[in-house]
Amino acid sequence: MEVLILPRPADVGAYVADLFAERIQRNPGIVLGVATGSSPLATYRALANRKERESLQVEDVQCFALDEYVGLPAHHPGSYATFVESEITVPLGLNPANIHVPDGAATNLDQACLDYEQAISDHGGIDLQILGIGANGHIGFNEPTSSLSSRTRIKALSSQTREDNARFFEAPDAVPTHCITQGLGTIMDVHEIVLVAQGTHKAAAVAAAVEGPVAGLCPASILQFHPRITFVLDEEAASNLSLRDYYRSVQTAKSSLGKGSA
Ligand code: F6R
Repeated sequence: MEVLILPRPADVGAYVADLFAERIQRNPGIVLGVATGSSPLATYRALANRKERESLQVEDVQCFALDEYVGLPAHHPGSYATFVESEITVPLGLNPANIHVPDGAATNLDQACLDYEQAISDHGGIDLQILGIGANGHIGFNEPTSSLSSRTRIKALSSQTREDNARFFEAPDAVPTHCITQGLGTIMDVHEIVLVAQGTHKAAAVAAAVEGPVAGLCPASILQFHPRITFVLDEEAASNLSLRDYYRSVQTAKSSLGKGSA
């Protein structure tokens, strides 16, 4: 596990965009796992800027979204399909045929979950996943007490998550009650994971994930078992970590050895 503490939210986006660009250059057919929400926006925007400036070959890049609300029409402004299209597919110039989002409008939702797992496996698994973290420690929409080995399935959203995400809807009641989310077991199968967090409202969840016991009460704590996980945090999100000085000294030592970046 690596914990990287950067001064500002924009530094988080720039660092992770560089890492993504490097991995795409190395593997133009890379399978990316993408989170929605506010946390990865700076990364997607920095990556889109890089794509403008340099020749980054993206036509073969595949993308799998983590989750989708149940019951929203595909083009609803609050749907994650809409987010992925407007924040990732279009700005990065990805091929829409390579973009996969769980089908929250399916008539058979259980089958849609199985199909999503199958699609990930048919593409050889996810190479690189970007995650955000909920204030309650969720990743994807795996809410507290999720099974640590869960697969893609329907989940009820917690009231805190529905309140946190009300900003994307016309009214708090309009936030769907359920979602389809990749499971914690699905996420743990990814080859490499980067979790980004910015702001003091994430500090408690980040501390529980990085330094707390591994427990279903903080689903992100399962990441402690992942062999290639990097937490990329701004100062505020890192502010509750008790070993901050240690992470910083590791960071400094790595940069002086020339291993400080992707
Ligand atoms: C979104 C997702 C969620 C978010 C989390 C943080 O696809 O899976 O786990 O990453 O709710 O959301 P923001 O970044 O909006 O604070």
